[in-house]
Amino acid sequence: MSINIEAFFHQDTATLSYVVFDTRSLKGMIIDPVLDFDIYSGSLSYTTANLMLDYIDSHHLDIDWVIETHTHADHVTSSQFFKNKLGAKIAVSDAVTQVQHTFNEKMDLKVQCNGSQFDHLFVDNEVFNLGDIPVRILATPGHTPDSICILVDGNVFVGDTLFMPDGGTARCDFPDGNASQLYHSIQRIFELGDDLQLWMCHDYQPHGRELVYKTTVSEQKKYNVHLKHNTSQHDYVSLREQRDNTLSAPKLLLSAIQINVNAGILPVDENNKLSFIKIPLTIA
Ligand SMILES: [Fe+2]
Repeated sequence: MSINIEAFFHQDTATLSYVVFDTRSLKGMIIDPVLDFDIYSGSLSYTTANLMLDYIDSHHLDIDWVIETHTHADHVTSSQFFKNKLGAKIAVSDAVTQVQHTFNEKMDLKVQCNGSQFDHLFVDNEVFNLGDIPVRILATPGHTPDSICILVDGNVFVGDTLFMPDGGTARCDFPDGNASQLYHSIQRIFELGDDLQLWMCHDYQPHGRELVYKTTVSEQKKYNVHLKHNTSQHDYVSLREQRDNTLSAPKLLLSAIQINVNAGILPVDENNKLSFIKIPLTIA
């Protein structure tokens, strides 16, 4: 019994997407797939998604799931592409409804806020199988309320909780983000065991170092720049909040979020059947 993990790096958004499968049954899942999006021209394309699809086809995989580790604010999901091509179920945390409510109100999106756009909503500790291999979903809120980690065969796909040790941890200043919650979520991951392999959702390659996206709990405890030396919750929260105060909004936040809260379904104007995104304006 073993799994295979293939990573795909999307340079424009520094996102890692994964294809994970059971080598015996070839049953698999996709995690956090990216749709190429040029904000300047509004054009969307499937170049990156097709690279993943080629891999899936050439390995004869049977992909049951497309899983989002949270509602992403930095890239547009290509989950609908894989649902259409492979018949995979799109799944996310059941807390996505909170994110939908928040952004529906803030941006007047007119999306359903009951999670019905997704094929499945995970509850904390839910388990499903890839072949004979169990996969467990852990609720790890903090960066967003709907953040999850995916535990399979000694590996954890951490979404936006931790970055590589030199990158620290994820920001907590999005609506309903919470640094105390993230601290507890990270402790939950740490308690799973020092030898677990942790797979990142992003690597921003600090100081121009080469791409790295895999580490261990033990390395995170020792070297993570936001957590090393047993940082207390109080110290972590104040460090995180100070840092968040200096960050600007992600480039694709307003555009990506309105597609991603709708499970990757593009909004369509009722009158002319064209797709638009809205940019709400504020005066500082
Ligand atoms: Fe994120």
